[in-house]
Amino acid sequence: MISKIATRTFASSAASAYKVSVLGAGGGIGQPLSLLLKLNHKVTDLSLYDLKGAPGVAADVSHIPTNSTVKGYEPEGLPEALKGSDVVVIPAGVPRKPGMTRDDLFNTNASIVRDLAKAIADHSPKAAILVISNPVNSTVPIVAEVLKSKGVYDPAKLFGVTTLDVLRASRFISEVAGTNPVNEKVTVVGGHSGVTIVPLLSQSNHKDLDTETRDALIHRIQFGGDEVVKAKNGAGSATLSMAQAGARFAGSVLDGLAGETDVVEPSFVDSPLFKDEGVDFFSSKVTLGPSGVKTVHPLGNLSGHEEELVKTAKDTLIKNIQKGVDFVKQNP
Ligand code: NAD
Ligand code: LMR
Repeated sequence: MISKIATRTFASSAASAYKVSVLGAGGGIGQPLSLLLKLNHKVTDLSLYDLKGAPGVAADVSHIPTNSTVKGYEPEGLPEALKGSDVVVIPAGVPRKPGMTRDDLFNTNASIVRDLAKAIADHSPKAAILVISNPVNSTVPIVAEVLKSKGVYDPAKLFGVTTLDVLRASRFISEVAGTNPVNEKVTVVGGHSGVTIVPLLSQSNHKDLDTETRDALIHRIQFGGDEVVKAKNGAGSATLSMAQAGARFAGSVLDGLAGETDVVEPSFVDSPLFKDEGVDFFSSKVTLGPSGVKTVHPLGNLSGHEEELVKTAKDTLIKNIQKGVDFVKQNP
């Protein structure tokens, strides 16, 4: 009986054995995200890196009896932390304080993300890279430019994590409609800041909301991050809901790598949808497969109001993306 349990607990196939690295694992997001990744049975090697604190987080979560080894690394260990990674998640960087926009984080986080991208290019160039650090609309293009400069850019393996907007949309629409959020699926497209966040309510279960309710709901989804920043009152931004969002998205990327079918999540990716208008990255539903992005889905039918919201989002995105590209060109 005992040996039967042991066999079941440690059974794992090569197809579901993955190394996942978290860069920024000692932080407000990094810690709970590391916990949730330790609970994912596809993760067999969990690599936790931060400027400080990662060995402690690693020792802590390593006691959880799931079938993965956990190692924590300090700065000199970054190459080893990254080596052989299938997925690298980046929540490194400073969070907002009340009164700040995500773009106000650019000056600090751009160089952090650039330097981590250089290390990824050198030590795990084949990994899927999941960028959480804000401003996502600019940090994702920063990673792309670094990888291009090193000749290892694979557009199918770079993701801006916008899943928190999707979680919020489900939750907030359920509060308006008096329903169970588990049954509410809302596609959110565009980017990850203010007006670039566009929930497609016309494709949800509640397409007939009155204009006032609809507009208030859209505003809440677009500025949901501010609610948390305000409530934390200087102590940072969303960490726990973000950890759940990051773990869910990383789990979907792993499901895709493992060859599972119909794995679809919105994500901010190198997208063909509006390239002819100068928008090189855009979030829409993406099918995830063994090589990362398999299909970037078009937006589908939009209401006239959503067409306007998407246009506004594109105008801002073009500037946010260019800012990231220019940063790497001027600060290689
Ligand atoms: P935090 O300050 O609690 O943690 C950040 C961690 O990054 C710290 O432990 C710090 O030591 C580490 N770090 C800084 N520079 C580093 C480097 N060069 N290498 C490795 N680690 C480094 O912040 P947080 O609350 O965890 O937020 C992190 C980032 O995530 C912020 O930029 C925040 O705006 C962003 N965020 C994004 C979303 C999203 O939806 N994409 C949601 C919430 C927060
Ligand atoms: C969020 O949406 O919660 C994050 O982007 C953090 C923030 O600054 O709001």
